[in-house]
Amino acid sequence: MPDGHDKTRHSTTEDDITAAVLARFAATPDPRLKEIMLGLIKHLHAFVKEVELTEAEWFQAIEILTEAGKMCSDKRQEFILFSDTLGASMVVDLIGHRKPEGATESTVFGPFHRLGSPDMPWGGNIAHRDTTGIPALVSGRVLDLDGKPIAGAVLDVWQAQSNGLYDSQDKNPDQLHMRGKFRTDSEGCYLLRTVQPVNYPIPSDGPVGAMLKATGRHPWRPAHIHFVVMADGYEAVTTHIFDRADPYLESDAVFAVKDSLICDFARHETPTAEAAKLGITGPVLTAEFDFVLKPAGATAQVDVLDAQRRLAALGTRA
Ligand code: BEZ
Ligand code: FE
Repeated sequence: MPDGHDKTRHSTTEDDITAAVLARFAATPDPRLKEIMLGLIKHLHAFVKEVELTEAEWFQAIEILTEAGKMCSDKRQEFILFSDTLGASMVVDLIGHRKPEGATESTVFGPFHRLGSPDMPWGGNIAHRDTTGIPALVSGRVLDLDGKPIAGAVLDVWQAQSNGLYDSQDKNPDQLHMRGKFRTDSEGCYLLRTVQPVNYPIPSDGPVGAMLKATGRHPWRPAHIHFVVMADGYEAVTTHIFDRADPYLESDAVFAVKDSLICDFARHETPTAEAAKLGITGPVLTAEFDFVLKPAGATAQVDVLDAQRRLAALGTRA
């Protein structure tokens, strides 16, 4: 039979096409890339066949992805939002950060971290422009797995303002607010001043919002404060602390809550001694949370802040 007329080489059924595509990737030289591509094709084709995707639906999916791409900038990452709201970010996070017992658990990075947040002194206030939130002091230690304090650890902190918006979503989006880098003292202790974290809806004015609405889901995240905690010789942890009193702990829009990250924000009607020292005169909340880092592994971890740098660079490309 002439070339191209061999029956065995024609893609006549849906499964023939899947087999032909898998065969086309079989010579991929990088073994990991090969594993990923073959897995992707297998599952993508299985999905299309299972739901019997129509051409109209396929075009709609292309439109949604195109719209998501157009929304991305150095201040907005719609693809991270998709990954987060579909639970993919948390699965990737769990696979990449299997921690030994006792180490602080990680959770989603989210799209609102910004590079260049200021170095803060002991007890520094990240909420200096927030006039409506109740002052809150968050303190604790950074420890190793044996409970020994880690001096000079850096805590990169970010949080939504008490109006539920991140600085980049508010007026004056270029001004950094509710962000800072704190360092532990010689006993591994840190202290930061902020305002009470609030629950807030993730951005829902784009394709992710449309997906949530069409599927009957709400966009709310429980009140939390974000941290990347890092120290030389230890694996950095990207995590949040959550307010135990929040009604959305059970239904976080991005599936990021872990029991070990929930903590109490205790309300004091009159300032504690520490709050008074920092000039707080009215009611104050206090929360205590210790972070435990595991030693850096032999294999280099993908640094989430480096990934953020690369994404930010993509967003600013003309
Ligand atoms: C956040 O907490 O900042 C966040 C995380 C995932 C998606 C949207 C927002
Ligand atoms: Fe957040």
